[in-house]
Amino acid sequence: MSKLYITDTTLRDAHQSLAATRMRTEDMLELAKEMEKVGFWSVEAWGGATFDTCIRYLNDDPWERLRTLKSIFVKTPVQMLLRGQNLVGYRHYPDDVVNKFVEASAKNGIDIFRIFDALNDVRNMKSSMKAVLDNGKHLQGTISYTTSPVHTIKGFVDFAEELYSLGCNSITIKDMAGLIMPEASRELITGIKERIDIPIGLHTHSTSGIAPMSYQAAIEAGVDILDTAMSPFAGGTSQPATESIVASLAGTARDTGISLAKLRLVKNTAVDIRCKYDCIIDPISVRIDSDVLVYQLPGGMISNLVSQLKEQNALDRMDDVLKEIPRVREDLGYPPLVTPTSQIVGTQAVLNVLMGGRYKTVTNEVRDYVKGLYGKSPKELSDRIIKEIIGGEKRITCRPADTLEPIYDKMKTDAESQGLIKKEEDVLTYILYPAIAPAFLKGEKKPEVLPSAKPTAPASAGSEDFEIPRSMEVEVDGEIYAVRILSIEGESVVNSVEAAGGDRHKRGDVPGGVKSSIQGMVLDIKVQAGQKVAAGDTLLVLEAMKMENPVVSPVDGTVTEIFVENGAVVQSGDVLVVVK
Ligand code: CO
Repeated sequence: MSKLYITDTTLRDAHQSLAATRMRTEDMLELAKEMEKVGFWSVEAWGGATFDTCIRYLNDDPWERLRTLKSIFVKTPVQMLLRGQNLVGYRHYPDDVVNKFVEASAKNGIDIFRIFDALNDVRNMKSSMKAVLDNGKHLQGTISYTTSPVHTIKGFVDFAEELYSLGCNSITIKDMAGLIMPEASRELITGIKERIDIPIGLHTHSTSGIAPMSYQAAIEAGVDILDTAMSPFAGGTSQPATESIVASLAGTARDTGISLAKLRLVKNTAVDIRCKYDCIIDPISVRIDSDVLVYQLPGGMISNLVSQLKEQNALDRMDDVLKEIPRVREDLGYPPLVTPTSQIVGTQAVLNVLMGGRYKTVTNEVRDYVKGLYGKSPKELSDRIIKEIIGGEKRITCRPADTLEPIYDKMKTDAESQGLIKKEEDVLTYILYPAIAPAFLKGEKKPEVLPSAKPTAPASAGSEDFEIPRSMEVEVDGEIYAVRILSIEGESVVNSVEAAGGDRHKRGDVPGGVKSSIQGMVLDIKVQAGQKVAAGDTLLVLEAMKMENPVVSPVDGTVTEIFVENGAVVQSGDVLVVVK
């Protein structure tokens, strides 16, 4: 056995796990300058949720970020996390988009592509894997680790062999929930190393407190690469600390060759940056959470559920939801719980509990999953559940992306006609996030302000970084008006009341009114006033808890009034549409 290699995750997974993926590019660059001197095997610095957060919250251009990082990481390989056919989004994209995305990522600075699929369905990984090899970059195949009655060490070893046969340069075991036990790590690493002679890595999270023990077992079994994060961003829902692993092996056969003195310089920079984000780090996410061991759920998923239930005013139902999740997961054939399956299972469990009956409301995502559009479930679905979720609708057994037509050229023309494209990569940003990308690409997005960044002295008029509420809801006679404050000169002046065309929500009883039973955002109105509908027809789609929830007509009739518009935020009990 020889040197252990380190992939440092501070710039991606660590702040995604602890600080809601909010680290700004400027802070990353400070860290990168010091990290470049260390001699990491790689730095995971891009992909996962960073792309989404960049454009949704930070007004950072993810491509610009990547280019700047790579200009600093000259010797250190830059690594990204890629969700197979989902890229850095939440649904499958056609192969033309996958190819363009991988090519652009390679061109802008990604050296190592870590590719996974939530279901370990290799058909969802093949296109992006081939694209990585075509671009001459390092291909890291990933096993999404989980435990269930149908997941075995042998099954994972076979999967590793399959990934190897497809040309992977290294393989990593991705334990996104922090569930892997020391003995399982040992058996898995040993089993894979007996059959394959490329570098094998292990990625886990410290959430349950088991991670350092599992890392030690993996080290003894000959693991080649471990994922760690710099101590100010380590522990809790993040990875074990880089410094601790490096120090524990100093002078042994597995010495990482990394200097603790150099790490100390990275750490000092990281401490300052950590202070800046302290205000958004949930204390719960930094301590050991033994609930993870009981519920076998990723730590991030539990905190997501808490915020979803708060949003729905139903935090008291948490225990019921935690009991429902394993049942939904079993119904869906034991998918590993990682993006997007963790959201799909979690949200359906919440709906099963809140809607007063299992699968009374089914998200579009669960429907698609049962149809086979996410790939093959680890265990075959029962006829009962198929019938309950999609009735007689057709299921597919082919590779899901085979059902998708190429869209790149069409979307490019579309985005160009809207004046959104300044560089080729903007087309990809637009395709991946069509709802939020236009405002971002037009430069209309304002970066989110960190609470601690507020000036302590009273802000001067119009100050950019002082957060004054710019919109509020006012209720008049049961009707909700969204009020937007357009300019602030000395005193707040309300100079825009959007009523007729704006967010106008009706509360209370309206004859024939179809109400929202959850808090959410109107994503897509499927009907027009005057249109005839049948009972069960979808009237509109609400985005709630990150999933699409169809709202259907309870009766045959005619749509006489629509109270909402796309993008409106509605509360539980709001009347959306009237069907008479
Ligand atoms: Co992770």
